[in-house]
Amino acid sequence: MLPYIIDWLSLLGRWFHIIAGIAWIGSSFYFVWLDNHLLPPRETQDTDKGVGGEVWSVHGGGFYHAQKYISAPGVMPEPLHWFKWEAYSTWMSGIFLLALMYWYGAEIYLIDPSVLSISPLMAVSLAIAFIGGGWLIYDLLCKSPLGKNDKSLAIVLALLVSLLAWALCQVFSGRGAYIHFGAVLGTIMVANVFFVIIPGQKRMVSAAQEGEAPDPQYGIKGKQRSVHNTYFTLPVLFVMISNHYALTYAHTYNWLILIALSLAGALIRYYFVARHKGKAPIWPVLFALGLIAAVAVPLAPAGRSEAPTAEVSLDEVHGIILSRCVSCHAEQPTFAAYTSPPGGVMLETTEQIQAQAQRIYEQTVVSRVMPIGNLTQITEDERSRIASWYTARTATETDTAAEPDG
Ligand code: HEC
Repeated sequence: MLPYIIDWLSLLGRWFHIIAGIAWIGSSFYFVWLDNHLLPPRETQDTDKGVGGEVWSVHGGGFYHAQKYISAPGVMPEPLHWFKWEAYSTWMSGIFLLALMYWYGAEIYLIDPSVLSISPLMAVSLAIAFIGGGWLIYDLLCKSPLGKNDKSLAIVLALLVSLLAWALCQVFSGRGAYIHFGAVLGTIMVANVFFVIIPGQKRMVSAAQEGEAPDPQYGIKGKQRSVHNTYFTLPVLFVMISNHYALTYAHTYNWLILIALSLAGALIRYYFVARHKGKAPIWPVLFALGLIAAVAVPLAPAGRSEAPTAEVSLDEVHGIILSRCVSCHAEQPTFAAYTSPPGGVMLETTEQIQAQAQRIYEQTVVSRVMPIGNLTQITEDERSRIASWYTARTATETDTAAEPDG
């Protein structure tokens, strides 16, 4: 019963997490857009009120006129809308999912003995240390003298984030490392809202209410954190979908792929932010596409692999799959964590095996992510027998379907 309940919790948690994330990133994209499209106010009475910029827009059949004040308005308007629960609820649902899938299910999703053999308790402690430590180091850096120079801070942060990607991949399964990379950056983003941006805004509001000039340093600090959040967004979103792409996280150089794609995401965001302001140079996009190509080309599978070394029959492969895969990949899995075949993949009969031959080969031989966490302890010899069977099979297929001159 428990695995079934966990399935539902995971489904509902994910549904909620995506909706909260859309609301958060959506509003944050909108405000970056708004800020970058401001024009000086046309009416002098607006300038006199303290308005520094305005935007006209049309959406959903209505015309909107947004105005940005240079500092706080003279009288605090009621109600004043704050944007914070989008961020907080995204984080809370994210940590809930992380704990449910990757911490509670550490042996399946987080630990890979071929990377590092650690106990679930150790793995979860490390995960929490990465998330908490990530924020502490980041926050200290921003508050240190380095934090006064935005460019140097950005360079140091980029190096540390790359180090983080590398370190996580030395400790966790590729998939677990990627999701924790996202969790560390996502936590920094939400903590920026919670510990810096919102408290700064509260101080500015209370200063305005007491008729004092608000201290501009709160605005400056908040802006710095919010710029970092902007550039973390696309890398974090890549990580959130990466678990569907073993070609990235399961590669030997998974940490390098993670760094390259994160950099590509940040560059693409950079371009869009610049474009809102007017004409933007295209080089960040070209560089980002170059990075993606530089990752994709070497990852491409080699054409036909070397000739099969041994004749391996379908029956033999069926035997391997029965002992290594079917505890999970059956209509009624016997592996306790699942109540339905994971990924919808069933491998009980020879027909099912033949129909899924390519996926079996990819998951077991190419990316080697199956059996997940190698919980059923498949041997190298069994992997290579699956490889021989598959290559012989595709060789005969291409020979029979050969071109006329072949
Ligand atoms: C301990 C349970 C377990 C075992 C054993 C296991 N798998 Fe899986 N398999 C999973 C899970 C969980 C997923 C879904 C992964 C995900 O969430 O993306 C999966 C997904 C798959 C997929 C679909 C992947 C995709 O994204 O298209 C294939 C194919 C697959 N497994 C093949 C195998 C083969 C072949 C074996 C045996 C060599 C095997 N699995 C053993 C748990 C297992």
